Amino acid sequence: MNNLSVSHLIGIKDLSREDIEIIFKTADSFKDVINRPIKKVPSLRDITIANLFFENSTRTRLSFELAAKRLSADVVNFSASSSSLKKGETLVDTVNNILSMKVDMVVLRHESPGSALYLTKHIKAKVINAGDGTHEHPTQALLDAYSIKEKLGDVEGKKVVIIGDILHSRVALSNIYCLQKMGAEVMVCGPSALIPKHIEKLNVKVSHNLREALMWCDVANMLRIQLERQDIQYFPSLRAYSMQFGLTKEILDELNKEIVVMHPGPINRGVEITSEVADGPHSIILDQVENGVAIRMAVIYLLASKIER
Ligand code: CP
Repeated sequence: MNNLSVSHLIGIKDLSREDIEIIFKTADSFKDVINRPIKKVPSLRDITIANLFFENSTRTRLSFELAAKRLSADVVNFSASSSSLKKGETLVDTVNNILSMKVDMVVLRHESPGSALYLTKHIKAKVINAGDGTHEHPTQALLDAYSIKEKLGDVEGKKVVIIGDILHSRVALSNIYCLQKMGAEVMVCGPSALIPKHIEKLNVKVSHNLREALMWCDVANMLRIQLERQDIQYFPSLRAYSMQFGLTKEILDELNKEIVVMHPGPINRGVEITSEVADGPHSIILDQVENGVAIRMAVIYLLASKIER
C-alpha cells in the first residue's frame, strides 16, 4: 500500500504512522534520484504547482520549487510582497485567479493559523501547508524525523529535546506530533515564558535547564527566538537568553556523550547556537536541508496520485 490516508497535507496531526512511513520510503527513492548526475524524473510532467508564499522563506520555498522541478512538474511562484494583495485582494480571490490558470496543487505559507485548511474548503487543487502562522509546518517535521532516522537508524525509542521559543513555533508542534507518532520521547526546553501553558497534555516532558535537557536527550533541535511573532518582551535580552539557553561547544564537551544537533533554520548564530556548533561534527543542519528536497518530492508525488485527471 503506497496510498496516503489524506488528500492534502495540512498538519502532521492528520497523518498516521503508516502515512509517515510511506512518505519516508518514497523519499528514500527520491534521495537516490537527487544524488544522481541527472537529478530528475519525468513523473509529474502533466502537473502544475503554485508556490504561494505570503510570509518570508528561504529554505522551504527553494526546496518546494526544486522538488517540483525534479519531478518535472511546471511551477509558478507567487510572493505576497510583489502581488495585488497590496491592492486589497483577498486570499481566496488571489488563489482562485491562480487556479483559473489550471493549477493542480498549491503550496501555501501564510501567517494565519488554519489558512491551509481554509483553502481546502474553497478550492479543488491539492493543498500543502508550508507553514501556517504558529500552527504547523508539516514538511519541516517530516524532514527532521527523516534526518534523525538517517543519522541514528531509527526514530523509535529516541529522546529528542526541542529547545527555544516553543510558544511561537509551528516547527515545535509539528515535530512533537511527528516524533511521537514514530515512537520517540519528546522534551521541550526554554524559559517559562516561551513554553505554552498545559503543553504537558501533549505528553511531552518540560525542562527549563539546558544542561539537564541535553543530558537526557539523544537529539537536540535548536529553535530560533521568533522576535517577529513576539508582541511583548518574554526575556530580559537576547544576551541573557543566550547565556542560559545558547548551545556552545563547551557545553557539548561537558556532556561526555555524543548527541545530534539539529536546527530548522534560519539560524541566529551566537544566540541559540554558536557557529562552532552549527558547523561542527555534531550538527546535521545541512543534511536536514538536503533531505527537505527528497521529503517534499515524496509529499508532492504522493498527493499528485490523488489528482483526478
Ligand atoms: N525552516 C524554514 O521553514 O525555513 P524558511 O523560513 O527559510 O522557509
